Amino acid sequence: HSFSDKLPVDTEEEHEDDKYDKKVTVFFGTQTGTAEGFAKALAEEGKSRYDNKVLFKVVDLDNYAADDGQYEKKLQKEKLAIFMLATYGDGEPTDNAARFYKWLTEGEAEKGHWLLDLTYAVFGLGNRQYEHFNKVAKVIDESLSTQGGKRLIQCGIGDDDQCIEDDFSAWREQLWPELDSLLRDEHDEPTNTTPYVASIPEYRLVLHEEGTKAFEENYVRKKGEIIDINHPCRAHVAVRKELHTPLSERSCIHLEFDISDTSITYETGDHVGVYAENASETVQEAANLLGYSLDTIFSLHGDSEDGLPLSGGSGSLPPPFPGPCTLKKALARYADLLSPPRKAVLAVLAAYASDPKEAERLTYLASLKGKDDYAQYVLISQRSVLEVMTDFPSVKVSLGAFFAAVAPRLQPRYYSISSSPRFAPSRIHVTCALVYGPSATGRIHKGVCSTWMKEAIPAEESRENCSCAPIFVRQSNFKLPADPAIPVVMVGPGTGLAPFRGFLQERAALQDSGQRLGPAILYFGCRNRQQDFIYEEELNNYVAKGTISTLIVAFSREGSTKEYVQNKMMEQASIVWNLISSGGYLYVCGDAKGMARDVHRTLHEIVQQQESVESSKAEAIVKKLQTDGRYLRDVW
Ligand code: 2AM
Repeated sequence: HSFSDKLPVDTEEEHEDDKYDKKVTVFFGTQTGTAEGFAKALAEEGKSRYDNKVLFKVVDLDNYAADDGQYEKKLQKEKLAIFMLATYGDGEPTDNAARFYKWLTEGEAEKGHWLLDLTYAVFGLGNRQYEHFNKVAKVIDESLSTQGGKRLIQCGIGDDDQCIEDDFSAWREQLWPELDSLLRDEHDEPTNTTPYVASIPEYRLVLHEEGTKAFEENYVRKKGEIIDINHPCRAHVAVRKELHTPLSERSCIHLEFDISDTSITYETGDHVGVYAENASETVQEAANLLGYSLDTIFSLHGDSEDGLPLSGGSGSLPPPFPGPCTLKKALARYADLLSPPRKAVLAVLAAYASDPKEAERLTYLASLKGKDDYAQYVLISQRSVLEVMTDFPSVKVSLGAFFAAVAPRLQPRYYSISSSPRFAPSRIHVTCALVYGPSATGRIHKGVCSTWMKEAIPAEESRENCSCAPIFVRQSNFKLPADPAIPVVMVGPGTGLAPFRGFLQERAALQDSGQRLGPAILYFGCRNRQQDFIYEEELNNYVAKGTISTLIVAFSREGSTKEYVQNKMMEQASIVWNLISSGGYLYVCGDAKGMARDVHRTLHEIVQQQESVESSKAEAIVKKLQTDGRYLRDVW
């Protein structure tokens, strides 16, 4: 991860741009790499379409400008810009777009009509299952228009619940003719007649002799060094415990990372990002499919032997990880082996199939025509890329292509930290539900990070063999009110309890230091008291101590009817609304698609009932709570 693809902000680079008369800047706001991949693909297609006469520049929104002033100065000079923008979490921008989003959308009215030279198009990446579907793209699209930009085509709405690549293709079909009219000279050919075929990026592979020393990333950060997604820091597992009772058929892990020898710091309510490793059986399966032994020592290079950029792809590719590296480590740490492959990956596999029938089938699945079959075979069946490779045995992918175009980079997993630094200054606690169960194809799907946590060896068991992982902290705005006397209502079923455990540790510490606390209600939900009432004893102790004034637990699988947290809230509508309307804060944490959506609806009902107002007025009240920062959600 020291191999960050983030470039320093470069103000001199404009000289390079001067060589071209025409330029299109393709901005991306990406979290897991999809928007970035789309931006690069679009740029490649554009270069080919206009015979390299137009500069297509792919830009990370964070790297574009060091501060607001620079955003303004640089954006004012742009004539044609395309934005690939993912919406993440609870309708939020991705980390690398957050600064731009805030700057562009805040105080729009004061900025006036100033983007007079800009023509732009926005494509959004989101998931229809979530409440704020593609919010970031929609807001930026509107905002650019309000500030004077000319919208080239309608904002693209990509839906990752279906096939987002198809949405992107359809949007591009509309985009190109519009761009043609701006970018082609009159004497140019009307359209590029050769259809564009994406080239397959592939690293140059160098195999090293047995016994070559492998490069070890140590992830040790000196004091004062930044620690973030690109610069994680190694932390040991100090404690690991099962939170469910033996009666439960599921598993939930309490894990504590020891941060005492690191410069990691955190605040209550923050998230921790964890880089876990793939399970050894998954790694072995991948090596078998690739036809190499796990001890193979190799390195990958984005340039030719004489240092020239490799043809295909966008210039020279940054190596995906430092080498020399064993195949075992490369597969364990850097390759996402279990996600369903995107269509573009199937197209790559088709190119490596020696059996023409297999190539044809894969090409079909990757095509627009194959939409339904792709949805069935890949998405609905949750087929992993390894399963697809197993189904098409004639596909022999080189290591250089596998790491460049088949296996996406393994992403860190985020957890709401379940401790407070006031209580545990040298520990980061995590509360993690194990992802485990049969997929539609009968494969037992095991979540990468939760499985790693379940199997982690804590230092309290073995000092020598204890597990460690590169981690980093991501700040959040899910924070207790500055004044502890302000009432709080917390709603967190299942592992949604995690940040509230941190909140309660913080409140207990404030209590111990003599501060007066306002009322706090906690709504927790689980299936059955005998199975998955996690941290039961701790919570009861907090009630006894007065850290929580009321603990309400909804058991969903005890009686004959399901009891959910929102049912309990509705039963106590007047208590809940009294606390909130008197200046209190409402916090919701947990599953976004089901629970948080339902709790949101319940809140709406409570407001309507308690204030005796119509639906639209209730909506406005809830919205106001949100904009005031008194209704906060930490959902996934
Ligand atoms: P269930 O699994 O019995 O449906 C923690 O996961 C708890 O949240 C479980 O008791 C679970 O109940 C419950 N839950 C599931 N869907 C929910 C929803 N839409 N709203 C609130 N709670 C929900």
